[in-house]
Amino acid sequence: MRDSPASQLLAWYDQHARTLPWRAKGGEVADPYHVWLSEIMLQQTTVATVKPYFEKFLHLFPTVEALASARDEQVMAAWAGLGYYSRARNLLKCARQIVSDYGGQFPDTEDALLALPGIGPYTAAALAAIAFNQPAAPVDGNIERVLARITADTTPLPDLKKVIKSVCQSMVPDHRPGDFAQAMMDLGATICTPKRPNCAACPWHQNCRARHQQIADTLPRRAPKKPKPERVGTVFWLENHKAEVLMARRPDKGLLGGMLMFPSIGWDAHNDTRLPESLPDAWHKISGEVVHVFTHFRLTLKVEAQTAPKGFRKPRGYQWVAPQHFAEEALPSVMRKIATHVLRESV
Ligand code: ADE
Repeated sequence: MRDSPASQLLAWYDQHARTLPWRAKGGEVADPYHVWLSEIMLQQTTVATVKPYFEKFLHLFPTVEALASARDEQVMAAWAGLGYYSRARNLLKCARQIVSDYGGQFPDTEDALLALPGIGPYTAAALAAIAFNQPAAPVDGNIERVLARITADTTPLPDLKKVIKSVCQSMVPDHRPGDFAQAMMDLGATICTPKRPNCAACPWHQNCRARHQQIADTLPRRAPKKPKPERVGTVFWLENHKAEVLMARRPDKGLLGGMLMFPSIGWDAHNDTRLPESLPDAWHKISGEVVHVFTHFRLTLKVEAQTAPKGFRKPRGYQWVAPQHFAEEALPSVMRKIATHVLRESV
């Protein structure tokens, strides 16, 4: 009898699984804290980017209890550069809830996981499968691609998602569902790649309808993308006589919540950070611009700079930060770009 697709995939995984720092080694049980932390970090971020952050978090916060009792700023600073900062705020909320409501033990069902902050359907399924060996079917972009190709389904995304979720659920084996999920992720990341898939090395080579029809690299189809709206703004780089730079903390909720930023206007309707009128109009323009692409818009920022006059006092809620401390502060990527832009100019 021919092996089932799941057995073929698991046999391939036993030979070719990627070694990843959050993965249990063969025969060991996965640590739910490691699996959860990695899955939150991997939402919208690549494995290569996540690896050093994952190691740093385990070093700073070795357990969910350690994370739950960390200061908010410490966690935001450790997260800085990974983007999508609401993930870090929810990470902390979730850790605190695991400790307060579950005595530090992650719940092991998809439904209970789904009720926690920052855990959506994909992450709940991934955790249930990988950390608790439940027959759950996480479907991320990689898995969507693999299954769209196996079935040669030409429905464009996002409608394709629903179909693929049920295809995936029907394939999950009773035995090793966690490895099955991770095997699909690895197959998507290493063999069934978006461009030029390596079909010759695929364990599903024989069964793949898209390969038979020679349309693998055209799947999944997507509805045409709308261009992102453009926003423009101005950032004010105000130094004091110690070469520290004025920064404000953003409100906890919303875009870049809780992160530090240089005062800026014009691009984020509700969050202009105005400077006192008492400052002289002695701004000089830094040449060039900084462009940063957010999920929902593309931002172009101009920068103006000056040194604060003697006697200038920082407004309430603002702080002076020396550029050598930027690395350990919770600066979002867009503000790091601004700092690099200005500091390069002033060399
Ligand atoms: N992408 C998302 N989750 C992953 C995981 N657990 N392993 C590898 N890639 C992933």
